[in-house]
Amino acid sequence: MEKNKEPGIAKKGFIPLCVPHLSGNEWKYIKECLDTNWVSSAGPFVDKFEKDLAKYLGAEYGVACVNGTAALHISLIVMGIGHDDEVITSDLTFVAPANAIRYVGAYPVFIDAEYETFQMDVDKLNNFLKKCCKKTKKGLLNKQTNRIIKAILPVHILGHCCNMKDIMNIAKEYDLPIIEDATEALGAKFNNKFAGTFGKIGIFSFNGNKIITTGGGGMIVTDSEKIAKKAKYLTTQAKDDAVEFIHNEIGFNYRLPNVLSAMGCAQMENLEKYIEKKKKIADIYNQKLSEINGITTMKEPKNCKSTFWLYTIKVNKKLFGLDRKELMYELEEEKIETRPLWQPMHLLKPHSASYAYNCENSEKLKRESLSLPCSVGLCFKDQQKVINSVKNGGKR
Ligand SMILES: Cc1ncc(COP(=O)(O)O)c(C=O)c1O
Repeated sequence: MEKNKEPGIAKKGFIPLCVPHLSGNEWKYIKECLDTNWVSSAGPFVDKFEKDLAKYLGAEYGVACVNGTAALHISLIVMGIGHDDEVITSDLTFVAPANAIRYVGAYPVFIDAEYETFQMDVDKLNNFLKKCCKKTKKGLLNKQTNRIIKAILPVHILGHCCNMKDIMNIAKEYDLPIIEDATEALGAKFNNKFAGTFGKIGIFSFNGNKIITTGGGGMIVTDSEKIAKKAKYLTTQAKDDAVEFIHNEIGFNYRLPNVLSAMGCAQMENLEKYIEKKKKIADIYNQKLSEINGITTMKEPKNCKSTFWLYTIKVNKKLFGLDRKELMYELEEEKIETRPLWQPMHLLKPHSASYAYNCENSEKLKRESLSLPCSVGLCFKDQQKVINSVKNGGKR
């Protein structure tokens, strides 16, 4: 492999990073769609998938969308966020939430990650609000940018939760609504409550590498009937009169098709089993890799029950002998697919003009972290190979 290239999709014969596990009723339910001709954006499986997910989470409503990014986009519109507003979000995340904020003409404000947990740093969030913002008649003013902050969008990354107790308290103090990006944390709990159910809206994704998948898909979850109705209306082209084609707002073609929802229903039936498997994989890695000098294993944040969606280690070059990039290439030689974390948002060209508050931890985490194979279907033998290869990669 060329040394200046990041590994992409797992090549043939590789132990993959995180691939779908389709071991249940997927064929059966999809066949039912094909047999009944219900394949498009309406159908019984769409409603069932929405109800199943909402029920699992203990939320009132689910609105199925074509993907998690679309779900974020719609949520921001429904919350009334628009041109020149600001939304506080995590600096260390996949790019989708930052992009969705820009889709509505607003700007992200990036808050650093906590070094220990990788999640949004609540102390820095608090400091930013205290030091850089002012309550005004128009709302909460970011004195650095002269824009009004309209919401907080914490991103629960890698199958763990942000500290939602503190974030909810801060949001209350500053009268800001919360939209949770829980795309990577389906099934994770903070203080025994599911990620994605703390704020006004929670967002989920079912793309191919998530804990359950519909190939591509997303969901908006809320307890508000008004929000759910509006979200459904906007995701289905804002049809006010479907016969005469009257649309009173600009809508979107963002509804999840029945055939993909059928897959979601089948996957939901196995979600708890998959979470158990992910935890087992994490337990084994934690036990074996913590013996290696220079490797920091992944811990559950305080008060969190994690799913360990994407198992990630930190690599200390001085102690281990290789940095995370060198280890990544060593594992590539061993036919093991790994993945570095995302570039912190404030370093990305399209977001470099947005305000970022002291984001040094996210840069450090990007430099040091590497995600290891952790598919639900990962077998014991393959996991042992990964563990041994990491051990052999470092100073012994
Ligand atoms: C944190 C985060 N937010 C949003 C998304 C977007 O979801 P999707 O790929 O379904 O659009 C993803 C993943 O893909 C993600 O990891």
